This record gives sequence, structure tokens and C-alpha cells, in this order.
Amino acid sequence: MYEQELAATAKAMVAPGKGILAADESYGTANKRFEQLGIPTTEEMRRAYREMLFTAPGIGDFFSGVILFDETIRQSTKDGTPFTKVLSNAGIIPGIKLDEGAKPLAKAPGETVTEGLDGLRDRIAEYYKMGARFAKWRAVITIGDGIPSNRCLKINAHALARYAALCQEGGLTPIVEPEVLMDGDHTLERSYAVHDEVLKTVFDELYIQGIELDQMILKPSMVIPGEKSLQQASVEDVARWTVKCLRERVPAAVPGCAFLSGGQSDELATAHLNAMNALFKDQLPWQLTFSYGRALQQAAMQTWNGQDENVAAAQKELHHRAQFNSAAALGQYQPEMEKIAV
Ligand code: 13P
Repeated sequence: MYEQELAATAKAMVAPGKGILAADESYGTANKRFEQLGIPTTEEMRRAYREMLFTAPGIGDFFSGVILFDETIRQSTKDGTPFTKVLSNAGIIPGIKLDEGAKPLAKAPGETVTEGLDGLRDRIAEYYKMGARFAKWRAVITIGDGIPSNRCLKINAHALARYAALCQEGGLTPIVEPEVLMDGDHTLERSYAVHDEVLKTVFDELYIQGIELDQMILKPSMVIPGEKSLQQASVEDVARWTVKCLRERVPAAVPGCAFLSGGQSDELATAHLNAMNALFKDQLPWQLTFSYGRALQQAAMQTWNGQDENVAAAQKELHHRAQFNSAAALGQYQPEMEKIAV
């Protein structure tokens, strides 16, 4: 019933030079980031922070969509305009986080399964009515001694596909996000091998459950050595290995891959995306763009620091990172741009 709308939304989400702002931090995550900066962890502060982000002048030139959290999609600006309307007016599609977080997987120390499937059909219907047109579900895969297990990959892929099927039935274009964490000391090669297995398992499950690939977006992590690995990789190596992995495993019918930043510094996340597009753009069947949380928001949140008088400066920080990542999505980012834009 929604096929055309779902496909059009997917295409718009990864339109050339556009990417997605992930602003769907749950209460816990948002409060943790606020606490680190000494910002009060109240509902009003979370609302004021999101208002700062969503009303930043000009961001509609770079963001196709913004992912919201349940609390946020129900909130408005101080003058009473719903956030969904603020975004739509700026030409940005509102999206919604549907998962309820990664919880310990039974009998699997160190591994998690993402929850949130119960009652999901009704939640999707409610969010659609509120104006959401796409959604996100994040599965979390940890690399460690003897993990990830096959069982963990299968269970998470199964849940991702069940979520994606419900989204397509209910009119929300699903972002399918299997994140392989950077935590640990694993090598680039091990990261590649795990990403390869994860993506294979996910697309097998999407096929089994009848997901229309032209009506979804993949949100992958990049193939990067563990943050504690003694052998870090060059920007070009990360670009090459990530693109190789995606080419092996992501069907051409998928309109685009929008990466998460996963704890990379904001400049590195931009440089990696840029290298992939600068080196390979013309040879790829799908768009490669960004769906960053931390790598888009870090500088803006620090500058804002909970103070009204910092709103304009913080919005400028967000605008810079949005602009640089938009350039990276086209393979046109230059690190010198960072120095010029102050
Ligand atoms: P990061 O870019 O901070 O990893 O967040 C993206 C996201 O949406 C994780 O689910």
C-alpha cells in the first residue's frame, strides 16, 4: 500500500550531498552527555537543546532527515511549533527511533539483543500519524574473545528484519542499523571479517522476511580497527576495506548506506566518508552518506553548554559539520575547510 512512498522517502534520504542527523538519544544517553558537560538533565534542557539543533539556519541544505526519540517527537519549540513541523518546514523528513535499546542476551556473556518488537505495529501507526516517515533500529555487535557468536548475529538480524517488515507495512522507511562496535583491540582484518558475516546474516534475513530493498536504507559502521588496537589504519585503508565489504554484501537495489560515526572524532568521520566517495563514488550502485550522532553534535553541544546566549554559536558549529559532511558525501571535502570556517 505504501510502496511508492517508501521508495521515494528512501531515495530522498540519501539524495546526493544530503545525509541524516541522528538526534534520537534516549533519556540515558542524552543525560550522560549532558552530565559530562555539567548541563542539567531535565526534560526542558533536552527540549531546548533539540530546539537549538532543529532551528539552526540552513541545515535543510545538508540534512534530508532527522531521527527523533519518543520524547522529542512529542515536543515543540518554545513558541509552540511542533518539532516535526519545524523540520518539515525546513524540507527535512522526521524519523523515529523504534528500538528500545540493546539488552544482555541470555546465556551469552558480553553480547546483546535489541528489544522493542512487542506492540511495534501500534507504535508505528502512532508515529506515522505524528508525521514520521522513516525509522531506525540499531543492533549492536561486540567483537571480543570468541564473540560475536553465530547465535547473536542470527537473533539480531531476525529482529532487524521483523522491525523492517512492520515498518514497510505501516508506511515508515526502515533504517536497518547493524553496528559493529569499535570497542576493543581487534585488527582491521578482524573488523572486516565480522562486518562481512554481519552483513551477510542481515541481508539473508531481510530476504527471508520479504523486505523490499529499494524501500530501506542501510546504516552500517565503518571497517575500522578497535580503538585500543596498536595498529591503527590510514583513512584510505578504512575507505577501501569498508567499500570492499559493502560491495560484497549490499545488494544494488538498496538506495543508500548512511554511516554511523560510532565514536570516531568528528573530523575523522568526515574524512573517512569523503575518502570512500572520492575514491569509489563512480563505481558504486548506491549512495554513501552520513547518519551521524556524535560526529555532528559534539562541537555544537559543547558550545551550547545549556546557555541561551550560546545558541547562535552552537548552531554555527552544527552548520559547519553538516556542510563538511555534505561535501564528504560528494567526495568534495578538504581538511582545509575546517580552518577557514571559524
Ligand atoms: P553515532 O554517530 O554517535 O554513532 O550515532 C549514530 C546512531 O544513530 C547510533 O544509533
